[in-house]
Amino acid sequence: MRAPTSSSTMPSLVVRMLEELRVEYGHRVLEIGTGTGYSTALLCHRLGDGSVVSVEVDREVSGRAAAPLGACGYQPELVVGDGLAGHREGAPYDRVIATCGVLTMPGSWIDQTKPDGIVLATVGGWLYASELARLTVHGDGTASGRFLGGQISFMLARPHLPPPLGLLPDLGSGEERLTTLGPNLLTGDWTARFVAQLAAPRAQHISMTIEGRTQQILIDVEAGAWAVLTEVDGGWTVRQGGPGRLWNAVEDQVARWRSDGAPALDRFEITVTPDEGQVIRWPGGRWSRG
Ligand SMILES: C[S@@+](CC[C@H](N)C(=O)[O-])C[C@H]1O[C@@H](n2cnc3c(N)ncnc32)[C@H](O)[C@@H]1O
Repeated sequence: MRAPTSSSTMPSLVVRMLEELRVEYGHRVLEIGTGTGYSTALLCHRLGDGSVVSVEVDREVSGRAAAPLGACGYQPELVVGDGLAGHREGAPYDRVIATCGVLTMPGSWIDQTKPDGIVLATVGGWLYASELARLTVHGDGTASGRFLGGQISFMLARPHLPPPLGLLPDLGSGEERLTTLGPNLLTGDWTARFVAQLAAPRAQHISMTIEGRTQQILIDVEAGAWAVLTEVDGGWTVRQGGPGRLWNAVEDQVARWRSDGAPALDRFEITVTPDEGQVIRWPGGRWSRG
């Protein structure tokens, strides 16, 4: 599993994102996740500081960014708050860019962007496969676009972080059967993991060694659903409990994706509408709600 962006790789990711943002002089930009202020400074350099608003959830972090920005001669509007709400006071924007990841694109970002404007963010989940998505906003309040490829991940926006695992349910209960899909899916191939994540969007993955056997556990804390994969004689069993069957959903989704030719993530489309929320689709006509 790949860790979210480290401080050494972040500058190059930020530059890639700014290129993908397609900013032009005269654009007004809302940035979510001020962090060190590095990407904010680049935006100010390109557009002028009067055209940049940057929202940071952590007051101390935002305060620390203000000094180096000021030392560079930039005074963008720095806002402390939950960037998932955007910043209505400064709307409308030509571009919205988030350097923290989201599970679903917030409707506020689309509402606050001008028609033909762009919203750019990494969309991911709790199995930690994510991808950069660029959406164009339409005049009817919807947005659509594509994933751009490159396996880009940032730390998730605070309100989208997973809940604590708490006490585990009785993993000896439930029903057991054989499965042909092993837990490599949860740790290996990035796109397969992304697809699995669409099928079980609230599930987290942990490994536990019990009586010398490593078990891979998928658990949706809020719903109380779980699945445990155990290696038996070179194959795998899955034991599932709680409401719904997490592993059945993952198996079905991954099987559909494979039968459609296992398309790469840069061929996936993403739409956001007021009626349906976020929908992610791969070529082949199979739609998956995220
Ligand atoms: C990867 S860092 C941003 C990097 C930054 N653009 C830079 O150039 O240094 C992600 C930032 O997003 C912030 N963040 C997390 N959730 C947020 C939210 N809901 N609203 C605004 N900022 C958030 C984090 O506190 C962190 O500073």
